[in-house]
Amino acid sequence: MADFELRSARYLALEAQQAAVRAGDTVIDATLGNGHDTLRLAQLVGEQGSVIGFDIQPEAVRSTRKRLEEAGMAERCELHLTGHEHMAEVVQKSVRCVVFNLGWLPGGDKHITTQWLTTEKAVAAALGLLEPMGVCTLCVYPGHREGAVELENLTSFLSSLKPQEFNVLRQEFLNAGPGAPVCFVIQKQASAANDCSVRSV
Ligand SMILES: C[S@@+](CC[C@H](N)C(=O)[O-])C[C@H]1O[C@@H](n2cnc3c(N)ncnc32)[C@H](O)[C@@H]1O
Repeated sequence: MADFELRSARYLALEAQQAAVRAGDTVIDATLGNGHDTLRLAQLVGEQGSVIGFDIQPEAVRSTRKRLEEAGMAERCELHLTGHEHMAEVVQKSVRCVVFNLGWLPGGDKHITTQWLTTEKAVAAALGLLEPMGVCTLCVYPGHREGAVELENLTSFLSSLKPQEFNVLRQEFLNAGPGAPVCFVIQKQASAANDCSVRSV
């Protein structure tokens, strides 16, 4: 890993992922996009681990698969062309980490962006799937309308989680302007039930 540099919400999320994920783990990339996060997760879980990924755009699944194949890591990844709100139907085991990088596909159609109604279902499902000490990271981009809605609702939803079950951290750059990305890191408590369910607000 490169020298510590306080530089972006994604970097803060990556640090939490690196700290939490071990070789052999199963993890979820809830928003494949161009596969940068998927590739990093595939590296972290190693040959014995697996990454389960979701995106609603064929372009994103294609681009992620290509990146993984070029790196020789496609076999440890299972990519689903379906919304992350269906995560609990697809994933039947607990996972160590779930990564959300909200918004639109970089270089793609900006009208196809994550939406609070489906993000809410997916985050609730992700928190239910986390194993004790597992971590969920979320990068949110409030500089556009849907992102601002997601940030406001996520803040209230995550604030309502029981502290006996989850620790919730919100990190943001205070001097970077109103649209600056925000990183949430949520960890399921060691003592929380493996499958403690989370109701969305
Ligand atoms: C900011 S990009 C993700 C970037 C990606 N993690 C990377 O490393 O390149 C957000 C992605 O979320 C996807 N998305 C939007 N709604 C979704 C949904 N309901 N389920 C899964 N993915 C969704 C978009 O298609 C887009 O590819």
